Amino acid sequence: MEGLALRLFKKSPVKEVAFTQKIKQLFNSPPNKNNWDGLIHAYKPWLPVTKKTPIITLKEGGTPLIEVKSISDRIGKGVRVYVKYDGLNPTGSFKDRGMTMAISKAKEDGCEAVICASTGNTSASAAAYASKGGMRAFVIIPDGYVAQGKLAQALVYGAEVLAIKGNFDKALDIVRELSNKYPITLVNSVNPYRLQGQKTAAFEIIENLGNAPDWLCIPMGNAGNISAYWMGFQEFFKAKKSKQLPRMMGFQASGSAPLVEGKSISNPETIATAIRIGNPVNKEKALIARESSKGNFSSVTDTEIINAYKILGREEGIFCEPASAASVAGLLKKKEDVPKNSTIVCVLTGNGLKDPDCAIENNDSVFHKSVDPEISSITKVMGF
Ligand code: F0G
Repeated sequence: MEGLALRLFKKSPVKEVAFTQKIKQLFNSPPNKNNWDGLIHAYKPWLPVTKKTPIITLKEGGTPLIEVKSISDRIGKGVRVYVKYDGLNPTGSFKDRGMTMAISKAKEDGCEAVICASTGNTSASAAAYASKGGMRAFVIIPDGYVAQGKLAQALVYGAEVLAIKGNFDKALDIVRELSNKYPITLVNSVNPYRLQGQKTAAFEIIENLGNAPDWLCIPMGNAGNISAYWMGFQEFFKAKKSKQLPRMMGFQASGSAPLVEGKSISNPETIATAIRIGNPVNKEKALIARESSKGNFSSVTDTEIINAYKILGREEGIFCEPASAASVAGLLKKKEDVPKNSTIVCVLTGNGLKDPDCAIENNDSVFHKSVDPEISSITKVMGF
């Protein structure tokens, strides 16, 4: 690049230096938010795409990293806590990061239909990206255990939804078998392109902080996301874009904690339906992430999850879904172990609007019903 600059500006050393600096800046600076074309575009050299790959994107990724003082203050010790708000992706969850990759690669391979099992978010994302890519989407979900917003999304994006009398683990067994027997691409996180896309969240965190955090706190269900983050952190560390690797701190709901208990759970239960999973397919990868990062897996109760969910809403203006709040609940539970002056990122995987039933039932706000439409009645209720 410097050689090119030299040839262009042979006669003007001043211009030459400015030009070279500009080029260097362009190549070293993080992707520009005003020019955001989705994560494949932003991180192409790090992803398994070629010139032939048709990029199916809804401009996912580039989500904000927000400092949450109400959480830092509860921990003290000079600790700074941030949340990676991935609920701001196009379909409201981190799944879009993986889905842009999985659907683009499926399209490249000439695939016409995709299938997934889901607790809701994968199905919403698969449906949206399949519709953008002109493919059919089939989604298999556990009947009665998918939040309303997620179900609404899959239907609106045009997927064919099959609700089964069984849990997520059963649904996943079924779609794995179907995708082996029929010409239909599986887009659950066993599809390696999913994790490739999802690793870009770790890249963004490093670019925002200028380094990797000391801890990464993340909810775990099928354990694909923690594995993807670990891959992303390692790749940027090896490329000297960060000075350290984080400890990977994974959290599960206590009624649904196979990775904490070290055994499959046949009837997982939790208010956080997104992570109601008893037999995670990415278990091996997640265990490697824990071992090699000197991380830790723990569980949090539904009460602790809802407590964190309420703090984020009331004190930070951040509405996440219950499964996402497990990362913050876990951090609060582990606060004694947090090193002084450390930097911590909690991943908020999904948007709170996904699960309005949970929100309406779990808040401490005052909701006055059937108020007379008169100024006097209203001011009376307001206490004026
Ligand atoms: N948070 C949310 C909001 C999720 O939807 C999921 C998984 C997770 C965390 C856990 O991520 O499985 O990579 O460990 N949802 C999947 C689904 C299972 O079908 O939408 P993971």
